[in-house]
Amino acid sequence: MEAQMRIILFLMVMISSDTEAEKNLTSTKGGSITLHDPLVEFGFLLHGTKTVAMVNEKKMQILEDNYKNRLHWDNNTGFFTITGLQRNDSGIYTIDPKKGSTPSTSYKLTVYESVSTPAVKRLSVSAESCILLCSVEKAEETTLLWYKDEEILNQSSSALSLLLTVHKQDFSSSYRCVAANPADNKTLPVNITTSCNEQNNTDNSDDTNIRYNFVTGIIISIAFAVFVVLIAIITKKKCLNKTKTTIRQTQDLVNTDTDVYYTVCKYLVTDAFRTSEPHKKIILRSQR
Ligand SMILES: *[C@@H]1O[C@H](CO)[C@@H](O)[C@H](O)[C@H]1NC(C)=O
Ligand SMILES: *[C@@H]1O[C@H](CO)[C@@H](O)[C@H](O)[C@H]1NC(C)=O
Ligand SMILES: *[C@@H]1O[C@H](CO)[C@@H](O)[C@H](O)[C@H]1NC(C)=O
Ligand SMILES: *[C@@H]1O[C@H](CO)[C@@H](O)[C@H](O)[C@H]1NC(C)=O
Ligand SMILES: *[C@@H]1O[C@H](CO)[C@@H](O)[C@H](O)[C@H]1NC(C)=O
Ligand SMILES: *[C@@H]1O[C@H](CO)[C@@H](O)[C@H](O)[C@H]1NC(C)=O
Repeated sequence: MEAQMRIILFLMVMISSDTEAEKNLTSTKGGSITLHDPLVEFGFLLHGTKTVAMVNEKKMQILEDNYKNRLHWDNNTGFFTITGLQRNDSGIYTIDPKKGSTPSTSYKLTVYESVSTPAVKRLSVSAESCILLCSVEKAEETTLLWYKDEEILNQSSSALSLLLTVHKQDFSSSYRCVAANPADNKTLPVNITTSCNEQNNTDNSDDTNIRYNFVTGIIISIAFAVFVVLIAIITKKKCLNKTKTTIRQTQDLVNTDTDVYYTVCKYLVTDAFRTSEPHKKIILRSQR
């Protein structure tokens, strides 16, 4: 009696787990997915408990506005396709033919963000080994993996970066860093010979470039400031000399001539000094 009960219970569990078995589907944001179970004559498509669409007399009618232009139904195969997937499209989709003979089928759809391509940089290199850091911009739902051929050397979930130490004797093997989620993955092959070569440190050359530009900028500013000041001094001297001589020469003449000359000189001198002022400031700042 007890054994019979057990068999019946076992069968019931088998049947219920069979009908409730969900097919797992994954996709990335913006992607599309096709539910490969036909709904041909009459029935419904549900998302959770919401009725998304109805099929009747070879026609499909969308009942949820959210799926307008995104839900397609092939009248030959009876398959539904959802395009332009969003994160909130995740959930259980049920195809319910509303007929005793054909059971309803369910899909568990999970929509993921697409993963970003990993980047690798060298942290340090010594006589025995080289340390590389692989990183991604978004860590959410992303697993980072370091592969040597088909072997996983290191991995971490939901971390922005992952370290790898490579020993000198392994430099000729082929390495790659992979960023992956269940729906998407991006691989960056890493040539250890190139990445761990001491002469090939891009970070350093960037630094030198910035330093070089900075120094050049200061030298040009100083040279320009000196030039402007010199011009100003020369102009001032010339003006004063000329005005003196002019004053002497024109002592008997009408005063207005001298006035005009004075004004022109004053204008030239003050203008030269005014333009030189920002450069004086640059000199002060760069000396600090
Ligand atoms: C679907 O994924 C769940 C975990 O999310 C798992 O338990 C189940 O076995 C998977 N089903 C199939 C059919 O792969
Ligand atoms: C099936 O769809 C095609 C277009 O996709 C249409 O031309 C055809 O008339 C449809 N068939 C029926 C029976 O509605
Ligand atoms: C799902 O998200 C999109 C934007 O990401 C939004 O436009 C839409 O209204 C959301 N749908 C529901 C049912 O919340
Ligand atoms: C694996 O990554 C972790 C965290 O980035 C690091 O601490 C560890 O040293 C790495 N292991 C190897 C073998 O590189
Ligand atoms: C790495 O690059 C070097 C030089 O470009 C090349 O000679 C070598 O074969 C490459 N190694 C791998 C494992 O691809
Ligand atoms: C990466 O994606 C490809 C298909 O694009 C798939 O064949 C492969 O198994 C995936 N790899 C991992 C580690 O998820």
